[in-house]
Order: sequence, then C-alpha cells, then structure tokens
Amino acid sequence: MRTRFTEMFGVEHPIVQGGMMWVGRAELVAAVANAGALGFITALTQPTPEDLVREIERTRELTDKPFGVNLTILPSIDPPPYAEYRQAIVDSGIEIVETAGFNPADHLPFFKDAGIKVIHKCTSVRHAAKAERIGVDAVSIDGFECAGHPGEDDVPGLILIPAATRQLTIPVIASGGIADARGLVAALALGAEGVNMGTRFMCTVESPVAQEVKEQIVRSTELDTKLIFRTLRNTARVASNEVSREVVEIESRGAEFGDIQHLVSGARGRKVFEDGDLDAGIWTAGQSQGLIDDIPTVSDLVTRMVGEAEDIITSRLQGLVGARSEVGA
Ligand SMILES: Cc1cc2nc3c(=O)[nH]c(=O)nc-3n(C[C@H](O)[C@H](O)[C@H](O)COP(=O)(O)O)c2cc1C
Repeated sequence: MRTRFTEMFGVEHPIVQGGMMWVGRAELVAAVANAGALGFITALTQPTPEDLVREIERTRELTDKPFGVNLTILPSIDPPPYAEYRQAIVDSGIEIVETAGFNPADHLPFFKDAGIKVIHKCTSVRHAAKAERIGVDAVSIDGFECAGHPGEDDVPGLILIPAATRQLTIPVIASGGIADARGLVAALALGAEGVNMGTRFMCTVESPVAQEVKEQIVRSTELDTKLIFRTLRNTARVASNEVSREVVEIESRGAEFGDIQHLVSGARGRKVFEDGDLDAGIWTAGQSQGLIDDIPTVSDLVTRMVGEAEDIITSRLQGLVGARSEVGA
C-alpha cells in the first residue's frame, strides 16, 4: 500500500505509532520500525534531554529502519526545558519529528534548518491549516474518539478527517479510534494518506506497560473512557477507573486544578504502567479499546492490518462495485 505518506517518510506501511507518554520507548518504537511502520519515541518520557539522546541510541541498536521523536507541548505548572529536548533531537540526527499540543511555530525553524520532516498532530481543521501554512510536512488529526487530548471541539474523525483533507494539500494522517484494518481502509476512503494509532500499539507484546494494563484494554469496551479536565479546557480522554471517575465528579462540582492535582499527577499514572495497579492514577486510553481483543506482537499486528486492509479493498469493496454493475447490466 503506497501513499504520499509512505513515499514522503520512507516507510513500507501507512501506519504510525504516535507519541505516548511512558509508552513510546525504544523497544516499542524499534518493533514498529522493524514492522515497516513509523514509530515515535516520546521525548518527555525521558527525564532529561541527555536520557533522550541515550534512548535514541538504544533504539538505533534495535533497528536500522526510520523512526522519529515526538515533542509534546502542553500547559504545565512546571514546564520541561523544551528547547533543550529540541536540541537533543537535532543533535542526534533524527530525521522525523512529531510535534503535538501547542502551535509548533517556535520549534519548526530549528527542525527545518536541520532538514527534519515534521508531522504536527492537532485536533481541528483550523490548526491543521495553520500548521500547513507555517511549513510542516504533514499533519496527524485526532478525532474526538482519540486517547489523550481531543481538544474542545468534539468533532469525531468521520467528519474531521474529510473536512481536513478537502482543505489541505499536505498529507493528512487520520488518528483516533483506529485499531484495525477496517479503520485503516475507512481512513484512506476519507482522504487520509495513513493512520496513527496509540491505544492499539499500547496493547502489544513489545509495549513497555504492565501486562495488567494490556489485559484491561482487552476487557474494556468503547464505553470505558472518561473525559477529564473538561472544565479546565484541557480535555483528556483517559481510561475509566476509580481515579478518573472521582476527577470527573469533583469537576462537576465546579473544581479548580488545585482540587484535583493530587489525583492526576504524572507519577501516579506512571505507577499504573509500571506496577499494573489499574487504580493507582490516571492513565490514557481511547475509545478504540472497544475494538481491541488481543495482545499481538507489533509485527503480527501490522502484517494482519495491512493484509486485511488489502482484502477489504480488493474483495469486499471491489465486490460491491462489481455487484452494482452486474445489477446495472
Ligand atoms: C498511553 C498514551 C499516552 C499518550 N501520550 C501522548 C503524548 O505524550 N503526546 C502525544 O502527542 N500524544 C499522546 N497520546 C496520543 C497518541 O499519540 C494518539 O494520538 C492517540 O492515542 C490516537 O488515538 P487512539 O488511541 O484511539 O489510537 C497518548 C496516547 C496513549 C494511549
């Protein structure tokens, strides 16, 4: 399956593993690269820019295929040294970057000067159009279904993706709610050049999260997420658990960040992934949980997805067109 995305980024399949806090580490990213898809190390998962350099080196020991680094810029009480992480990415000779969160304008010139291709991930057509204007190479657009930050417009992918592709000229990668071949084919039909998946890649053998988390994703349905930080206009879609339900409940009473801060700390969320204690804190997962019912290796997942997508296109969809022309005849 060749698209403008596979051509531009030099990968075999139109499938991306987007940045994931605590999850986007060398083992997973290298497995994605070796499977012919495009994986991203998540810069801020590394405690310091020097650790990021080491993680990039570790990934290179595990694969000789292309991979990238995600730099997520979000509102933060104690912002990380973004410029230093950016410099670590440039100095490491990384060729592909995924930016996410705020407008990447401050960082883009540094990446472009270093010849780095940039995919900006955003959640609205207006932000995607802006990113195109300032010179990013491609955009990933997250629909309301997605894990993590869906923005505040609440537009699902079925509308957001074609609304974007009819307006943009750079390649668009559909993100959010995609977990299998049906989602991939649908995204291509909507005009996207590829898909980005988070939750699906988190639930693979190589994903560095506790087995309990993967099994919980398999058990969960599309109903098992919560939207937190709605009242703060910084919405995040996370797994439904004791902590996220309590946050939503406190927010419904008109809370301020200080009232929920103790519940939502990154350190507590990290414990979920490391110890498998599912109620230790907030952890990110999307509605696509409802489509996930196994824990495959990354290679099996990607091979299956591409194979089934080709089958859907050449058999089921082609068959529908054939059936119509036969009726017509
Ligand atoms: C555990 C987890 C952590 C995530 N952390 C980040 C992050 O740090 N930066 C980012 O840009 N996106 C992050 N995301 C979002 C994913 O990159 C992707 O856009 C999203 O998962 C797509 O929706 P899906 O889960 O339905 O595939 C995260 C997703 C998950 C599941």
